[in-house]
Amino acid sequence: MSVELLKRQLVRINRYFTQLVNSFDIMVEGMDRDEFLRFRMSLLPASGFQSVQYRMIEIAGTDLGQLVHVTKRELTEGVNDVELLYSVLYWKSGATELSSGKKTLTLRQFEDKYGHDLLRFAKKYQSCNLRRIYYNLPADTRQDAELIGLMREFDLNANVRWALSHYRSAVKYLDAKPKEIEATGGTNWQKYLPPRFQCVQFYPELWSKEETENWGKFQ
Ligand code: HEM
Repeated sequence: MSVELLKRQLVRINRYFTQLVNSFDIMVEGMDRDEFLRFRMSLLPASGFQSVQYRMIEIAGTDLGQLVHVTKRELTEGVNDVELLYSVLYWKSGATELSSGKKTLTLRQFEDKYGHDLLRFAKKYQSCNLRRIYYNLPADTRQDAELIGLMREFDLNANVRWALSHYRSAVKYLDAKPKEIEATGGTNWQKYLPPRFQCVQFYPELWSKEETENWGKFQ
């Protein structure tokens, strides 16, 4: 892929994410909370967590190793086995009941429906995800400041800005002090959703040590 085409695609991707983030800001103020809380129970156990497109965007955006749960990253450093990496992705651990270690119904249903296709997708994109495309560029082209800027923008949009705007909507509608309301997907959402806890970074090589240490705290 030429660097010019890659830049054009990244501009388009970032434009979509900016739209998505803006749409969340509208939703955060746009609904009557009690009405929302009444109809959301009919969603159980469905959750945006089961958005297979979202998982495909992540897998096409970077190497699978970047999507491994933060507690398993050191263990899987340098591992290329897609099935092994796929088994410890951050969202799988996020939808596993801490107490029992059992997968939530939302995750089980998601895996039953999409598991096979998503694993095949992960195998297909192992060599042609956006990070691989970047590394397949000539070394001098990888220093292109505009390209690096667009990839950092995508990383922030997907893993910080969207995650934060979505988290704000969860806080607005589910954080009923003193006890927060359970998530329809069964995750411990206060611990699962904030980007500073998920620590998903598509392109660590494009960020300074300090930026990586403060990931999810700036946008
Ligand atoms: C006020 C509305 C919303 C609330 C309260 C909310 C709440 C949540 C919660 C608590 C989770 C964690 C998983 C779980 O246990 O269910 C989640 C995950 C998710 N939701 Fe929402 N959500 C809302 C709207 C949306 C919308 C409109 C979309 C899609 C455009 C969306 C997409 C997602 C995605 C993709 C995930 C998985 C995130 C991840 O795994 O990092 N959500 N949502």
